[in-house]
Amino acid sequence: MTNSVNIVEVGPRDGLQNEKQTIDVATKVELIERLAAAGLKTVEAGAFVSPKWVPQMAATDDVMATLKRAQGVSYPVLTPNMKGYEGARAARADTIAIFAAASESFSQKNINCSIAESLERFRPVVEAAKKDGIKVRGYVSCVLGCPYEGKISVGAVAPLAGALYDMGCYEISLGDTIGIGTAGEARAMIRAVAKAVPVTALAGHFHDTYGQALANIWAALEEGVHTFDSSISGLGGCPYAPGASGNVATEDVVYMLEGSGLETGADLDALIETGLWISEKLGRAPPSKVALARQAARNV
Ligand code: HMG
Ligand code: MG
Repeated sequence: MTNSVNIVEVGPRDGLQNEKQTIDVATKVELIERLAAAGLKTVEAGAFVSPKWVPQMAATDDVMATLKRAQGVSYPVLTPNMKGYEGARAARADTIAIFAAASESFSQKNINCSIAESLERFRPVVEAAKKDGIKVRGYVSCVLGCPYEGKISVGAVAPLAGALYDMGCYEISLGDTIGIGTAGEARAMIRAVAKAVPVTALAGHFHDTYGQALANIWAALEEGVHTFDSSISGLGGCPYAPGASGNVATEDVVYMLEGSGLETGADLDALIETGLWISEKLGRAPPSKVALARQAARNV
């Protein structure tokens, strides 16, 4: 098992994209800046997607323009097509992410095209990014289950992950979009996908709907994965995955990893403060057990 683990913070995008209340640009920027200041080296900052489909991400250009970028920190943004890519390039994004799904129904609901069509849309995006020196990350959603089709076979995941990798993505993030998978299933899925993509180029993206995310991360770590997506204060869900809860909380992941002797480079106390701050801003109790435990200990 590797000694250091990369955390890809997705709260400002995957977390906030699902919020119904309006969140102003200043709050989004402060969130991203606080996360970077807490030692996270990758903070997904937004998405250049249709504002009709995901209104909360509409101001990503303003967020990117306002953000004080820290040295050595990457701020990826989602780009589903060339229009999104043009927005990302104008915003001087250092990294973009293209996003496919292992389920046909989810692909249609999420990006309004089939899986095969999505690959054709992504190809010119990746080509343009390569020319412009912008890094490309790839996502595969629904790797352990789909809100519309139920169980998804690993046979649908591995070739798609391989296609994105072969297209030029430096990393493929495997999304349990509805947080339904278990450690045994995650392990089997990673083993199958690792035949198409080097395991060191895989990332785990576990939502925590069924409370399985930490166990799934541990199973993936044992298989050689060393990059994980997580969301401060477990923010989020997906607008096209009804009932899905947020990603696993960054605070909980960092607590587990650092407590197991694995380095993340993140400052747990600063993350907890940031998680409590954004939870208060959004008017809800923080779901991170680590944050709640620390808060209770402070109040004794
Ligand atoms: P469409 O309606 O098929 O697009 O949407 P279109 O090409 O037919 O264009 C229709 C209109 O949208 C046009 O405007 C375009 O200009 C505009 P109009 O002429 O009607 O005024 N448009 C855009 N506007 C802004 N940015 C763009 C863009 N593209 C077209 N990039 C589209 C197709 C992909 C755009 C749409 O379906 C969309 O934006 N989907 C985004 C969905 C999304 O963001 N989902 C959440 C992220 S995925 C996720 O959360 C999963 C993940 O976390 C991993 C996991 O958990 O599994 C990554
Ligand atoms: Mg997600």
